[in-house]
Amino acid sequence: MDAPATTLTDTFGRRHDYLRISLTERCNMRCTYCMPEEGIPLRPREQFMRQQEVLAIAEVFTGLGVRKVRLTGGEPLVRNDAEAIVRGLARLPVELAITTNGVLVDRFIPAFHAAGLRKVNVSLDSLRPERVAAITRRDHYQQVMGNIELLHREGFDLKVNVVLLRGVNDDEIGDFVQWGADHGVPVRFIEFMPFDGNRWNMERTVPQAEVLRKLRERFGEDALQTVPGEAHDTARHYRLRGATATFGIIASVSNPFCDTCNRLRLTADGKLKNCLFAGAETDLLTAHRRGEDIAPLILRSVLHKARRRGGMEDLEQLSDPAQHGANRAMVAIGG
Ligand code: 5AD
Ligand code: SF4
Repeated sequence: MDAPATTLTDTFGRRHDYLRISLTERCNMRCTYCMPEEGIPLRPREQFMRQQEVLAIAEVFTGLGVRKVRLTGGEPLVRNDAEAIVRGLARLPVELAITTNGVLVDRFIPAFHAAGLRKVNVSLDSLRPERVAAITRRDHYQQVMGNIELLHREGFDLKVNVVLLRGVNDDEIGDFVQWGADHGVPVRFIEFMPFDGNRWNMERTVPQAEVLRKLRERFGEDALQTVPGEAHDTARHYRLRGATATFGIIASVSNPFCDTCNRLRLTADGKLKNCLFAGAETDLLTAHRRGEDIAPLILRSVLHKARRRGGMEDLEQLSDPAQHGANRAMVAIGG
């Protein structure tokens, strides 16, 4: 292993310059695919990173070459110091982004502008209010749609994320693409992935190939144009002929993009995960609280990163609850 000690390069030559920070495990929604029905137990506050700890740990990552930070959750904006954290992170040499369910976004527009946070991904799994209520177990459709329009008007780099679930919203794929084209908003379809407690099975995942097939059936055989992506894209991009907005498919299950992965994840309780699917975690928060230098811990975790999906190389392994169940529920990882 001859990876230079100062950059986050793993044994497969992948350089990691993108950190996703989960600010909380709490959420004001209860999406069926993200949380187990019974919820996840709330833990005492001291187990989670305080504002200053988020900022201090993030700074160590930027010292090691991280140049992009995305805030996730749970729902990152339910933290009452979310605004202060955004402001604090804005002082680091990073591009800031956030993934949110959109419910509280309107209160943060000035803060986002002030921090130069331009990239906002909003999750919305249906264009039908009653379906959104069934999927999220909450009735926030109007609020979320209003905030999507607000973000668009305010000129943010906005994307709408749609987790596809067979028999639930897979009849809306064409509607979403049409909606995105009409409103100039990029939509991204995400294959439903297995996590602890979300009752995944392959039959519930709508694979990329099927999304494309359905769209060709609706819009015509040559209605779709492929659009080249960027180096570390998780989505493959397309456009309806004649539309400006693109849409994308994130095929984590059927066609993973591990080869170009540049991401690391920090959970709200200060554990580093070198992969979304990795069961193993490195406790940075405890070490930071003891006054230890966490940089060597980060470097070691990166060097242990598996080639694919936390070591679950094939679909058979990914499907095995004994393997994916060793991971956390999505709400406790941060997407
Ligand atoms: N499979 C795919 N995507 C998921 N998300 C949450 N749980 C899952 C899952 N099991 C998505 C959310 C959000 C992002 C953070 O992750 O919809 O867009
Ligand atoms: Fe909350 Fe997002 Fe999970 Fe839905 S997917 S419960 S909005 S964290």
